[in-house]
Amino acid sequence: MLKATYRRLKKSIWTTALRAYVSTKNSYQPLGEDKAASGGRPTEAFQSRWRHVKSEIESCGAQNLVDIGCAQGWFVRNACIQCNLFSIGLDIERSSLRLGSAYAELQGEKGYGFVAGAFTPTTIERLPTFDIVVCFSLVHHIIKEEGRMGGLEYLKACRKITKKRFLFDIGGPEELSHWWVSKLDFLKGDLEANLHDYLAEAGFTDIRKIGESLAHEDKIMRPLFACSP
Ligand SMILES: C[S@@+](CC[C@H](N)C(=O)[O-])C[C@H]1O[C@@H](n2cnc3c(N)ncnc32)[C@H](O)[C@@H]1O
Repeated sequence: MLKATYRRLKKSIWTTALRAYVSTKNSYQPLGEDKAASGGRPTEAFQSRWRHVKSEIESCGAQNLVDIGCAQGWFVRNACIQCNLFSIGLDIERSSLRLGSAYAELQGEKGYGFVAGAFTPTTIERLPTFDIVVCFSLVHHIIKEEGRMGGLEYLKACRKITKKRFLFDIGGPEELSHWWVSKLDFLKGDLEANLHDYLAEAGFTDIRKIGESLAHEDKIMRPLFACSP
């Protein structure tokens, strides 16, 4: 009797702490329907991209998904909860994953999860293959550090672990508020055509622009691509 009361009390303290944690933390991505995105990109940028991801999942009959640079796991969670995929999210920021995990626990959700790590071409190539590989708004961070060729190596590694579809977007050369925007000069001009060629150079085929979504404060649209390995 005393033990059961203690267990209930512990659970209630833990849930209260989780709730306080989730409600006070800023989140780059929305958390389910409960919390709007607060990292500069509007919630619609996530919702619209999810609609495209879902449509690709359905059209290729995907069973599993990995999201590289998943932040709080918006796409990972949606793929599992809405489409019943086994889905996993990878990110360098443990605090982002902690928030996604805390939200999953509060919702009582299982079937998706997260791994923290600085994912490089070498570590990506060690992963198993996934029907869907998502890599959104990450490769410009790689290019920022490693240049055009570093970004290309990253895309090649992503291709190696893609079974059916690779879904991709990237910050563009017109997003002038980023100090490092000049690193993206090689994409200047016809952005869609240049991204198409970049993906083709990494070995992807059947490259299609499937949509676009708002970037950060610049109010610029980022094209969204789907391609085959
Ligand atoms: C701009 S956010 C985009 C988040 C998400 N993909 C989206 O589009 O909503 C970039 C994310 O990539 C993560 N990231 C950056 N470098 C990474 C790396 N080498 N390995 C894994 N994650 C990385 C960051 O922590 C951040 O969550």
